[in-house]
Amino acid sequence: MEKQRVLITGGTGLLGKALILTAPENVKIAITHLHEVTFDLPESIDSYKIALDDPLSLVDLVKRFKPDIVFHTAGMGSVDEAEKNKDYAKKINLEILIPIIESLNAINATIVFISSNAVYDGEDPPYTETSEQRSVNFYGELKILAEKYVRENAKRFIIVRPILMYGWPEKGRRDNPFSWIVKKLSNNEPLKLVNDTITMPLLDKDCADVCWKSLHFLGEDFNIAGCEKITFYEFGKAIEKEFGYDSSLLSAVGSDAFPTIARRPKDTSYDISKVQRLLGINPVGVSEGTRYLKETKIH
Ligand SMILES: NC(=O)c1ccc[n+]([C@@H]2O[C@H](COP(=O)([O-])OP(=O)(O)OC[C@H]3O[C@@H](n4cnc5c(N)ncnc54)[C@H](OP(=O)(O)O)[C@@H]3O)[C@@H](O)[C@H]2O)c1
Repeated sequence: MEKQRVLITGGTGLLGKALILTAPENVKIAITHLHEVTFDLPESIDSYKIALDDPLSLVDLVKRFKPDIVFHTAGMGSVDEAEKNKDYAKKINLEILIPIIESLNAINATIVFISSNAVYDGEDPPYTETSEQRSVNFYGELKILAEKYVRENAKRFIIVRPILMYGWPEKGRRDNPFSWIVKKLSNNEPLKLVNDTITMPLLDKDCADVCWKSLHFLGEDFNIAGCEKITFYEFGKAIEKEFGYDSSLLSAVGSDAFPTIARRPKDTSYDISKVQRLLGINPVGVSEGTRYLKETKIH
């Protein structure tokens, strides 16, 4: 049987790496990235350095690689960067979808678009796939517009909305709250974490699992989070406990102690019953997630 051809834009990112690690056997994978790859990729994977503000190169890759499926994970993930550089963020998080979708429609390929919990304002949790979308920052506004564009224009699509994701980033790649907390506590640095913002930390591998299994459900969208509703401070305590760090290093503060460029919603926790019911996936909580990461530390 011919292998399915899968293109992962942003294959060096947190989710991209998890998609590679959880890929079924019968797929041929190619990835794109922005910076040089300074770590080992499996030999079977072709990698292409293509910036999202270079649509012609991306379209050319689609024409040459002819994917059946594209996991579109690449983009500007920093909410504050998007608020600071609105024109650039709009270009790479929204406008790039126009040429990508046109080229995918031409070959009947499926796009799995990775959205975000930032499409919700945090005023009325828990959020389901049918909840009203209203964002408190520019990054979230772009995700809302991007989802709308995908729904109205892609012939074959799925939308996945992860909440705060954590895992081991590849060397030199963007930290996430887990890897950042580990860095600080392992260096015995005191750390203040907010105790008034609620999240449901999502292990990267669980998000990747949802992405792969979602492929049987064209036209659907999935809100995906870990199974526990906690504050960032509680997340830090779980990491401290699992890794055995000094318990005097962490302290709890209110979010007004950390003014941010972009506004953050207070509580975008999800109802994840659709993922559980349709995909049969039960995402882990932070104790199990951090234990798994301790056992699979990559560097
Ligand atoms: N992480 C979260 O907590 C979270 C939560 C909700 C939604 N999301 C969404 O999930 C998706 C994946 O997130 P992630 O955390 O895996 O992202 P990430 O770790 O920041 O990785 C981003 C990927 O995109 C590539 N990239 C970044 N800017 C690019 C550009 N201008 N041109 C081309 N490629 C570019 C990066 O390449 P290099 O590695 O070469 O730099 C990397 O491969 C994103 O759409 C994000 O908005 C993430």
